[in-house]
Amino acid sequence: MTTGWSIYVIFLVALNIGGAAWLLWWTAKRRPGDPPSDATSHHWDGDLTEYNKPLPKWWINLFWITIVFGIGYLAWYPGLGNFAGKGGWSSRGQLAAEQAAAEKQLAATYAAYANQPIDAIARDQGAVTTGRRIFANNCAMCHGSDARGAKGFPNLSDDKWQWGGAPEQILATVLDGHQAAMPPFGAALGGDANITATAVYVQSLSGLPVDPALASAGKATFAGICAACHGPEGKGNPVLGSADLTDDYWLYGNRIEDIRGAIEKGHNGQMPAWRLQLGETRSRLVAAYVYSLSHRQ
Ligand code: HEC
Ligand code: HEC
Repeated sequence: MTTGWSIYVIFLVALNIGGAAWLLWWTAKRRPGDPPSDATSHHWDGDLTEYNKPLPKWWINLFWITIVFGIGYLAWYPGLGNFAGKGGWSSRGQLAAEQAAAEKQLAATYAAYANQPIDAIARDQGAVTTGRRIFANNCAMCHGSDARGAKGFPNLSDDKWQWGGAPEQILATVLDGHQAAMPPFGAALGGDANITATAVYVQSLSGLPVDPALASAGKATFAGICAACHGPEGKGNPVLGSADLTDDYWLYGNRIEDIRGAIEKGHNGQMPAWRLQLGETRSRLVAAYVYSLSHRQ
């Protein structure tokens, strides 16, 4: 809040409190010239007259107490423009304190799993349930509540892995994330015909029915450019996260236009890192849950 607004807010609050006090004071007493409270020409219910009668003392005092309380409250808590209050309370501070308390409690719950091997945690039903909860809160928005993913977001419930499916590899993925880098190669391939031929060759790698002449026309380009990351056989490399192009799992689809799109525009799938947000042990639990999906007993 700028100082100008702050002063404006303080002024309005003071005006309101002052106004309330003034109103109480002004209306509470009778003044010379007021007709006596029982002087009236009209009566209802026997003793009710039309003139205003002062409120009972205790009632008025309640109002005064409210005003004093309000002033005390505004002195102790933030409320008057930029004035932070004498009590030092802030919503951020309260949140931080409550989070710290919750973290401490969680840490105690999770302590049993610290540094345990992923595959051992994955056999512990209670731990897997906890891992599923962490997954639902942090991962499901991208990977789906059943972890089956969507276009561009990998299915984590199968045994196909871009970055490796060993326990430690999954944990590393969760802790530090991954940034896939497949650059666009449209220009390098020099022309539409070659892009299509290379794409058709990629389709042939996973056994899709293709025109063999077209596929073999794309083979040299694949060996010359693509094999550097995807390997000479197209099996991918978990260090680079370069997809295995020989299986039937496709992150971005296996239609000719999908593969041509990959070549022309590249792909930069990003898996965020969770080390800071979840911490080591919770990352371990969610990694164990992911591991358990493709290793059901
Ligand atoms: C913002 C979306 C997003 C969120 C949230 C997210 N991920 Fe991912 N994740 C991705 C994307 C995109 C990839 C694929 C990256 C790539 O293209 O290589 C990925 C990849 C992965 C992989 C590697 C899959 C493989 O085949 O190797 C694992 C494991 C994984 N995520 C687990 C998780 C877990 C566990 C969480 C929750 C703690 C999570 N992800 C949260 C987007 C997300
Ligand atoms: C510099 C390394 C690199 C090179 C060179 C490279 N790729 Fe890739 N490619 C990747 C990576 C990494 C991914 C995963 C991208 C992602 O997850 O977002 C990928 C993904 C793909 C996919 C998507 C696979 C899926 O599951 O949907 C296709 C298709 C593909 N590459 C084809 C090619 C072809 C064809 C070439 C040669 C013209 C090529 N790549 C060259 C690194 C590379």
